Amino acid sequence: MAFQALRGTSDLLPDEVARWSALEHRARRLAALYGYRELRTPIIEDAALFQRSVGETTDIVQKEMFQFEDRGGHDIVLRPEGTAAVVRAYLEHSLHKTEGFAKLFYLGPMFRAERPQAGRFRQFHQYGVEAIGSASPWVDVEIIVLCVEILRAAGVQDATVWVASMGCRDDQRRSAEELRTQLQPHRAKLCKDCQGRIEKNVFRVLDCKQSGCRELGWGAVKGSPFLRCDDCRAHFDEVRRGLKDAGVAFDDSKVFARGLDYYTRTVFEVRAAGLGAQDALAAGGRYDHLVEDFGGPSLGAVGFAAGIERVLTAAERQAAGAPAAARRGLFLAVAQPELLGEGFRFIQQVRAKGVRATLDYDGRSLKAQLREADRAQARLVAILGEQEQQARAMTVKDLEQGSQEQVAFDVFAEQVASRLKAGGCHAC
Ligand code: HAM
Repeated sequence: MAFQALRGTSDLLPDEVARWSALEHRARRLAALYGYRELRTPIIEDAALFQRSVGETTDIVQKEMFQFEDRGGHDIVLRPEGTAAVVRAYLEHSLHKTEGFAKLFYLGPMFRAERPQAGRFRQFHQYGVEAIGSASPWVDVEIIVLCVEILRAAGVQDATVWVASMGCRDDQRRSAEELRTQLQPHRAKLCKDCQGRIEKNVFRVLDCKQSGCRELGWGAVKGSPFLRCDDCRAHFDEVRRGLKDAGVAFDDSKVFARGLDYYTRTVFEVRAAGLGAQDALAAGGRYDHLVEDFGGPSLGAVGFAAGIERVLTAAERQAAGAPAAARRGLFLAVAQPELLGEGFRFIQQVRAKGVRATLDYDGRSLKAQLREADRAQARLVAILGEQEQQARAMTVKDLEQGSQEQVAFDVFAEQVASRLKAGGCHAC
């Protein structure tokens, strides 16, 4: 029987891992530049954590969580998102006491049992950033700027930032009441889930997967439905002013609903051109009540998460042709199998200098080994044969420059290392 990866999951082969690592490296560097520190939380969490934060009536919780009972009868899920887990960890380790304002980021897999399609997976990966402990609109600005910067650093050139405000909880209660009244007469036209949502959580009609429900919902709300009180208006004005100052272009004319319940005030999404239906590369917003809802103090918080698969796809589609991969390291070809032991000692000397070095162990012909060195994108090929043994010097070819020279055995490792390091391609 041939096994395959599960639907909606994928293997990352080494070439792809190289692209992922490069993005992760940039993401970590940028986060550090803005003063955010990495946090790692478990992949499995208590199901109630997401029921209480993302929301009982959201699609994520109702339909998309990988949920199971463990042997002890506990209700467990594979985490569908990172924010709730970060807030749990923040409170569990009393970071509100030790750090006060905590600036954190994470990178890792998330799981949602959605119907897989282009850009939508069951195991996907997020780079998430959370600032917990401040209600200042300038933190919203910082978070959005950082989000835009990371997408730019990843090579995404054409993306639109949508910004809106969901208002505070009081604003949302008033909006919900109005929306409920408007939707009641159309109840029969809504899907079964949304009929229940009218009473339980009417905003979720606005991001139902059924387009008919969404249209009825948005038809009923009209205009800017959520933003009502003066404080929330002032907050949103400050965020927009800050974004303009920071030179971030944004569109604040779209009203959109985020499919998670915890948001208040600022919400945003970054959408890429040319990605089709799953075009949201990153999204986030304020969640000023989550810390309190989990039993902590009343603290403002804001964050975002970017979907790594979607960011890399967008960068690839928008790139003007990826640069050719650079040649790297040394490949040692041995002309006779008896020289393998000596060859191995040489590559160990090179590796000890922090330079990538490989060797053919299967006694293939010299021609086949040179072909392999080229396929593996080696920068230098060294040949060790009888002639070299007699001369006590290795033949070294530079596949990038097309040159060839003899290098004495006793300076071989030294010279190979200095040549590769000078080209900036050592332990890679
Ligand atoms: P979200 O909008 O559910 O927000 O997900 C954020 C990003 O994760 C999306 O914009 C998308 O790029 C990616 N994503 C989501 N689902 C999938 C999927 N099935 N396949 C591929 N990519 C996907 C959150 O998760 C919030 N925790 C964001 C946040 C952080 N808000 C405040 N802080």
